[in-house]
Amino acid sequence: MAPLSDSFQPFEYDTAIKVLADSSDLKAVPSKFKFVNEPTGLNSDSLPIIDFSALTANDPDQRSKAIHDVGKACQEWGFFILVNHGIPEFLMNSLATATREFFNLPETEKKQYEAKSASDPIKCGNFNVTNTSNQTFTLWRDYLKLYVHPEFHCPLKPPVLKEILLEYTKRIRELTRKLVEAVSENLELDQHYVDEVLKLDSSFQLFATNFYPPCPEPDKAIGLPPHTDPGLFTFLIHNGVAGLQIQHDGKWFNADSPQNSILVNVADQLQIFTNGRCKSVMHRAVVNDERERISMVVANGPSKEAIMGPAAPLVKKDGRAIYRPMKYIEYVEAQLVKSRVNGKPILEQM
Ligand code: SIN
Ligand code: FE2
Repeated sequence: MAPLSDSFQPFEYDTAIKVLADSSDLKAVPSKFKFVNEPTGLNSDSLPIIDFSALTANDPDQRSKAIHDVGKACQEWGFFILVNHGIPEFLMNSLATATREFFNLPETEKKQYEAKSASDPIKCGNFNVTNTSNQTFTLWRDYLKLYVHPEFHCPLKPPVLKEILLEYTKRIRELTRKLVEAVSENLELDQHYVDEVLKLDSSFQLFATNFYPPCPEPDKAIGLPPHTDPGLFTFLIHNGVAGLQIQHDGKWFNADSPQNSILVNVADQLQIFTNGRCKSVMHRAVVNDERERISMVVANGPSKEAIMGPAAPLVKKDGRAIYRPMKYIEYVEAQLVKSRVNGKPILEQM
């Protein structure tokens, strides 16, 4: 792989989309945002719901049913709604308030975090993507992305953000460990895989928050185009405004969530680790013309140094490894540089 510095195209900060949407009497989407959307999402009442408290229950029957349910959700949908997860609602609400305060900071303040390279631990701005027909367009969202573990990075303002994020991301690491253990147990892998192969104690964790202002023509722009995430599991909460859609059986479904729940999706390294059993689900964020939406996303990886390939007992069972091993950090950086529309660029190359 070429070194990052050779291939990285600096993100264009430009003016925040928020400022554009706030300041003008915008009736139409400016041409640089124009994106041809596939048909809108369907509703489904069969999205899997996982009760986290059952995973930690003393009752062995309840626990093994929960482990089975997690395994099934990861293999069939690659996605589930997590309830009774134990993260206090006030912590999630405070995070939403603090991230909104960040996006409300003056442009000069945010511009200091403009990304210079893909591996900057704090990055902020908006994003241009090029689709498979080589057309470039701008996403209808502003973002802030932070590396939060094992090293913690955070903007100085608003000052409360640091404390809230430290606590929230620690809680998410604890949930990730339990879910990864459940998947491993469901596939009869021993604990060694969680501790020594994935090295979850030093897991590489990314936090991203996305701000999607109301959009005058929601069908002509996109918040985030279809993609899959790096990592094992991604956790998503939002400010009460829906917009996440996931792909299932070739169709797009609205991933609406009950209050205080967390939307969890399987990410690329869990698909690789399970030799294709768990599905890293394609998802996207659509925009609406009424309310601003803020999502707060934590991508939980193995350690940066973990060599991620399919677990040996599964390869033995299947007779072949579908993916070749790759150091996790190399995968993340390759995806940051090469991410494009409608693709699983790195997974496809393995
Ligand atoms: C993401 O995929 O990272 C975010 C999607 C969303 O904002 O709903
Ligand atoms: Fe994502």
